[in-house]
Amino acid sequence: MENKKLDITGNEENLDKALRALEVYRESAKKVVENIYNSPEIKAFQKAIQAIRDSKSLEDIRVSVLGKKGTITEMMKNLGSLSVEEKKEMGKNLNILKSEVEKVLEEQKSVLEESELDAKLIEERIDVTLPVRPENQGRIHPVSKIYEEVVAIFGQMGFSVAEGPDIEEDFYNFTALNIPANHPARQMHDTFYLPKEKDGGKEIDDSYVIRTHTSPVQIRTMEKGQPPIRIIAPGRTYRSDYDATHTPMFHQVEGLVIDKNITMAHLKGCLYDFVKAFFELDEIPVRYRPSFFPFTEPSAEMDIGCLKTKNEIKIGGGDDWLEILGCGMVHPNVLRAGGIDPDEYQGFAFGVGMDRLAMLKYGIPDLRTFFESDVRWLKNYGFAPLDESSMTGGLSNNGGITR
Ligand code: PHE
Repeated sequence: MENKKLDITGNEENLDKALRALEVYRESAKKVVENIYNSPEIKAFQKAIQAIRDSKSLEDIRVSVLGKKGTITEMMKNLGSLSVEEKKEMGKNLNILKSEVEKVLEEQKSVLEESELDAKLIEERIDVTLPVRPENQGRIHPVSKIYEEVVAIFGQMGFSVAEGPDIEEDFYNFTALNIPANHPARQMHDTFYLPKEKDGGKEIDDSYVIRTHTSPVQIRTMEKGQPPIRIIAPGRTYRSDYDATHTPMFHQVEGLVIDKNITMAHLKGCLYDFVKAFFELDEIPVRYRPSFFPFTEPSAEMDIGCLKTKNEIKIGGGDDWLEILGCGMVHPNVLRAGGIDPDEYQGFAFGVGMDRLAMLKYGIPDLRTFFESDVRWLKNYGFAPLDESSMTGGLSNNGGITR
């Protein structure tokens, strides 16, 4: 039988050695070989196989020895030409040879697999010390941040959050708040009126507005139950106005406290605590100026002390004042409209512009930019998503350092 020429680049030498070893064995196999395991031929074959360094070459050798046209397979086929006696002897030896050869190939195969795996593990080693690639994170909008802060502060004072609809009945937005039809105060509000609803061509009497303030939530809350009431109502509000400090849609937070024996002192204490917590200052000068709102009596506007320079407003000191909210004692007519007896209960209310708070606290000069949805603006003025506002863990990322 002739050795097949295999194209195993770089491994011809090893293969030749292996095949030669087998060839030698084939000759001697004709004689009786009792102990193939220790035969020098098998040892030589094993040595040659152990020199093979890659599994592709090893597989080629396996095919050339044990494959359909492999050396041993051919030898098996040739058994037919032998005498019965020879066939028996030779067959037995060939089977032993075959399983020995298989064993040698198997062993080398697992040796190679293991070292190939080792090499791969070294090559593909993950460097866990490398810094992570920066991820594109979203940012929390300053208004959402202020919302969280306000809820955290009043939440700790025992207020709960109430809500009302953006599309509001004229009654809740005005009439029930002691602003009857044709009252001049209605003009103060630059109201967006909604077209009257039609029912089969007939106009329905009730007119709607998109709420001009969060005060209608006062009435809706009173209607729901008797005092004590202690709520804040943050939300969207709308007025037909547009400049650097006014947008047609903006945000307010309403506050309402009603109980027996509530006085203006409670109002002042509550709002003083609020501004200190909100601006994260231990001390802050405040003053109340008499004002007018139809739904409170007396009414006031609250100012906080600040220092105004050319490009900056510094809150908490200096000789300047900044108006930050409207407030007052709830008007008896409003309590009555809400179904509460003004002879038994009193309360105070306040309304703050949340966007204005955001502008002041975070130094954002133009309100219009809040609602332009410019991602570059949000990157600059936004907040990290996981920095939650809380009274214990810090309101604005522990003082706004890691914005
Ligand atoms: N609703 C008033 C406004 O929008 C603010 C306010 C609320 C004043 C509650 C007093 C009491 O201007």
